[in-house]
Amino acid sequence: MTARAVKETSLKIQRAGSDQILAAHGRITQDGVDVTHGAILYLEDITVSFDGFRALNKLSLSIDVGELRCIIGPNGAGKTTMMDVITGKTRPDLGTAFFGQSIDLTKLSEAEIAHAGIGRKFQKPTVFEQHTVFENLELAMKTDKRVWASLRARLDSAQLDRIAATLELIHLSTQSERLAGLLSHGQKQWLEIGMLLMQEPQLLLLDEPVAGMTDDETERTAELCNKLAGKHSLVVVEHDMDFVNRIARKVTVLHEGSVLAEGNMETVQNDQRVVEVYLGR
Ligand SMILES: Nc1ncnc2c1ncn2[C@@H]1O[C@H](COP(=O)(O)OP(=O)(O)OP(=O)(O)O)[C@@H](O)[C@H]1O
Ligand SMILES: [Mg+2]
Repeated sequence: MTARAVKETSLKIQRAGSDQILAAHGRITQDGVDVTHGAILYLEDITVSFDGFRALNKLSLSIDVGELRCIIGPNGAGKTTMMDVITGKTRPDLGTAFFGQSIDLTKLSEAEIAHAGIGRKFQKPTVFEQHTVFENLELAMKTDKRVWASLRARLDSAQLDRIAATLELIHLSTQSERLAGLLSHGQKQWLEIGMLLMQEPQLLLLDEPVAGMTDDETERTAELCNKLAGKHSLVVVEHDMDFVNRIARKVTVLHEGSVLAEGNMETVQNDQRVVEVYLGR
């Protein structure tokens, strides 16, 4: 792929962001998110109904800055729907959803929410298969629109360093020139996480990141999550309890669209209601 083609693709991606609309909202500043009260995400009484069925039922949840929160719960508990609400894919019927103190997520489009600093990884990896690993990270990099407007031909050394550091973090340094389509399923998942990281999200949402991974890949993904915690705020939904055990700090158990239990792993595992929900599957 030529440098020009990379640039043109990058521009298309950059334009997907929506500066003008963001400016109109006025509440989102270039400085980022107002987290003066310590919370990066605040959901209160979120209700989502599908044809009368309540997928989320007065769900309330708050995530602190730099926190790594695991969300578990049986199939259909509403975990993915919760992520859909946070990312603007689904509008709640009722309730409030704030990113930091002042960004009302229920009023923003999906593109605006992504631009504001919430990155989401879906279960199926979505990388650019025909591009190399390096190009995938390059395309995903957050860049100043004015710089892109001048069509600069090359990455500066700081940007190259960021790509190198990300490659290292996601265990793909030796695969940099490989076409993404040739990576294993686990490697594609890491690459997609890397692409999200290039956009410097404040909050990262990972929905079942280790589904389909080998044990070794699962372990490395746990290491990666542990490294990201503190630098980013992370919400990780996962069924694989070995994985959850490796990364768990505070765990939230969802059931029938609401929080059933919350606490450290030991607390939730010993919670009688949690045991019943899982045994009753
Ligand atoms: N677009 C939709 N239309 C109708 N029902 C839906 C829709 N999306 C989700 N649901 C229903 O809402 C409930 C919650 O689904 P959700 O996907 O959020 O569960 P989940 O906790 O992510 O489950 P899993 O662990 O299986 O991924 C399920 O009963 C599901 O069938
Ligand atoms: Mg789900």
